[in-house]
Amino acid sequence: MSSTSSPTVAVLIGSLRRDSINRKLVHALAALAGDRLQLLPVALDELPMYNDDLWADPPAAVLAMKARVEAADAVLFVTPEYNRSFSPVIKNAIDWGTRPYGQNCWEAKPAAIIGTSPGAIGTAAAQNALKGLVTVCDMVLMGQPELYFTWKPDLFDAQGQVSDERTRVFLDKWVARFSQWIARTAEARTDAQADAG
Ligand code: FNR
Repeated sequence: MSSTSSPTVAVLIGSLRRDSINRKLVHALAALAGDRLQLLPVALDELPMYNDDLWADPPAAVLAMKARVEAADAVLFVTPEYNRSFSPVIKNAIDWGTRPYGQNCWEAKPAAIIGTSPGAIGTAAAQNALKGLVTVCDMVLMGQPELYFTWKPDLFDAQGQVSDERTRVFLDKWVARFSQWIARTAEARTDAQADAG
């Protein structure tokens, strides 16, 4: 990451639904972030279910996903909540990213998890379930602030921008903290490399 450009963030949205509220959340967040973060969606709809045999002729969607993650400064998981857990779309993408063995595209990436649902705890359970997987894949997960909330249509306007002031302030603070988290993680990595070298 250069000191002048804003960090690039590979965004994995765990819903394939056209009208996904989690995709709407990403659009609102991108507008709010402006030039502080470059949110780059990663296409997950073409990923086949994980199958080791497919590495004989790797699917283009898998290679494209891994390339986008490897090139990014950070990763953002945006998960719906399915039966108190995260979506299988995200699990599948993470599994592909960890293979072939020794070529884990997630390694040392600063990461965050966010999500929304119409339910009372707004994906908190899904996010908790995902935290273990993200850390076992060696990502550097931001713990705070957590970003989950109960989706209500009137929090956003017809253009998909945040219209509720408290929500806007909350999302704005999250953008600032994630930007700092990415910078701090990059500094720590540079220091560690200097110590080792
Ligand atoms: C759900 N939903 C849901 N919501 C929640 O808050 N907690 C839950 O455990 C579940 N479980 C669940 C299981 C399955 C299989 C589905 C399809 C849905 C509702 C879910 O939050 C809602 O459909 C959201 O709109 C899904 O997010 P997207 O697709 O709109 O981004």
